[in-house]
Amino acid sequence: MLKFRKITYFFFLFLILFTNGFYLPGLAPVNFCKEGDEVNNCKSEVLLYVNRLNTEKLVMPYEYTHFDFCPIPDNVKNPTENLGQVVFGERITASPYKINFMKNVTCEEVCRKKYQSSSDFKLKDLRKGISMNYQHHWIVDNMPVTGCRLGEDLKSQICTTGFPMGCYIRNGRNTCPIKFDNVEKGDAYFINNHVDLFITYHSGGGEEWGTQFNNNGGRIISVKVIPKSINHKGAPNCMSSEDMMEIPSKISSEGLEIIYTYSVFFLRNNDVKWSSRWDYILESMPNSNIQWFSILNSLVIVLFLSGMVAMILLRTLHKDIARYNQIDSGEDAQEEFGWKLVHGDVFRPPRKGMLLSVLLGSGVQVLFMTLVTLAFACLGFLSPANRGALMSCAMILYVLLGSPAGYTSARIYKSFGGEKWKSNVLLTSMLCSGIIFGLFFIMNLVLWGKGSSAAVPFSTLVGLLSMWLLVSVPLTFVGAFFGFRKRPLEHPVRTNQIPRLIPEQSVYTQPVPGIIMGGVLPFGCIFIQLFFIMNSIWSWQMYYMFGFLFLVFIILVITCAETTILLCYFHLCAEDYHWWWRSYLTSGFTSVYLFLYCCHYFFAKLEIEDLASTFLYFGYTLIMVFLFNLLTGTIGFFACFWFIRKIYSVVKVD
Ligand SMILES: *[C@@H]1O[C@H](CO)[C@@H](O)[C@H](O)[C@H]1NC(C)=O
Repeated sequence: MLKFRKITYFFFLFLILFTNGFYLPGLAPVNFCKEGDEVNNCKSEVLLYVNRLNTEKLVMPYEYTHFDFCPIPDNVKNPTENLGQVVFGERITASPYKINFMKNVTCEEVCRKKYQSSSDFKLKDLRKGISMNYQHHWIVDNMPVTGCRLGEDLKSQICTTGFPMGCYIRNGRNTCPIKFDNVEKGDAYFINNHVDLFITYHSGGGEEWGTQFNNNGGRIISVKVIPKSINHKGAPNCMSSEDMMEIPSKISSEGLEIIYTYSVFFLRNNDVKWSSRWDYILESMPNSNIQWFSILNSLVIVLFLSGMVAMILLRTLHKDIARYNQIDSGEDAQEEFGWKLVHGDVFRPPRKGMLLSVLLGSGVQVLFMTLVTLAFACLGFLSPANRGALMSCAMILYVLLGSPAGYTSARIYKSFGGEKWKSNVLLTSMLCSGIIFGLFFIMNLVLWGKGSSAAVPFSTLVGLLSMWLLVSVPLTFVGAFFGFRKRPLEHPVRTNQIPRLIPEQSVYTQPVPGIIMGGVLPFGCIFIQLFFIMNSIWSWQMYYMFGFLFLVFIILVITCAETTILLCYFHLCAEDYHWWWRSYLTSGFTSVYLFLYCCHYFFAKLEIEDLASTFLYFGYTLIMVFLFNLLTGTIGFFACFWFIRKIYSVVKVD
């Protein structure tokens, strides 16, 4: 079900911005206390939620219930999910694990699962999940449950969200923590049927908050897990940790029994503040230095480009203009030269102006969406604690930004002298969104076929469709209405009746080499950052450095604009006036490099072998590349448009 409550919540976000002293809903601290000690509405029950399981080897997450683990109790309320979570495959449900605050539990049984040889098919999923290294993702108090191991220096801990559902020995590979002497013994799968949960809490006092709990309560700081595979042999006995719970390929006649157990240990730690409880997860990612390097790298490119642009604008262009205007006023008309020659043609409407205006309209939509989303992320509204908020925010903004898209598209189209305004509005609202939705729908069919949790439920699909058709499309029409009502953009110079012949071009000023070169520098600015983004998408590493990302985005905008202006100037000097499409394609070509990078990432970093997953990977990549093309192309176009209007408005033309 579409959670409209969560959507309206984002409208309120704007309001909240102007109030102060607040915690975002769901991000406020929760006070826990011992059972029977409930004061000031603190809770004694610590709810553990389970999310979908996923793996780096397949692009297919599965719900917890897809595997034959302990059944989910049905009298417990599941948390509501927001749009971003639903669309991107998160499925959070209550779990059968019961935890009470400050109550240690040792080797408690959760459930028993019995298998006969006839129910082998249920074990197949478990074996497959283990061999594909699927990871559990559990949530306690809105924090991910982390699996930690010692770092290489044997002192620091490296904590990652999630922990594996089991380990295996196969083809001489052993992913289990225990060494087996007979690794050649063939395939063996062991399930992690026991977890040791270590819950650290802060018991208040000092600067944190009052001492109303009398040491019987506190706030949860971290939850760490050590998964184990234990063959309990009939009764829960967590001491026999040498004997692991194997899932055999064939069940013997006595059948197989898996007992799921857990232990909980509450540890007090008043050294870590509640407000910085996420730090240990985020710090585990060795990023910061590389981030600074990435920024430095981008800055160098920007400075270099800005230098070039400044040089051209200030010196060459200035000289050009001075000379042109001198010729006009002074001696008899000498032979004209350079970019002034094409003044009668620069504003000649391009071929396929309809398509260009539609792409630009959608590009403006994507540009503002990215800008606002990143700004929100920087302000900390879309932190990892606020699951799915980033994607919800982006999607809702995309829908709401239909009006600027319609307006831009309409104005550009009108200034091309276009008459078919109805097709223009329809295409603006349908074409790009349609392509994205179409790709998304096809991928969803594949996910449905595989029973993956990333498959969006039918109702959500209908919800997305209605958001598009009932909100975005009308808004685009409104924007287009105002766009068409305005007078067309006036150009500083008149267009001649007869097009000029374009002289033969050198290799460098021909369209294709120019376009290919155009994308290099913008891509150079972002590719280090891309690595982290790709990791966060495909390896589920948490991404949180939105400050850096915002900076890189601004740098990307500047580089795209400057490269396009520079190349545009060179082309005009070579008397080639076909700049409309070319300016779009020049910076838009960055997306082709993005695509190549994604291919490289797929082959070099990921271990995907499965056909459906490959298809999904490239499906998602195509959507990303397409959006990126709209974004960069639009930036380039408007930069060039502004530049050309500027320079032709200062030369005198008779
Ligand atoms: C729970 O277990 C931890 C670790 O063994 C111990 O330090 C703590 O005192 C125990 N707490 C209670 C309430 O027994």
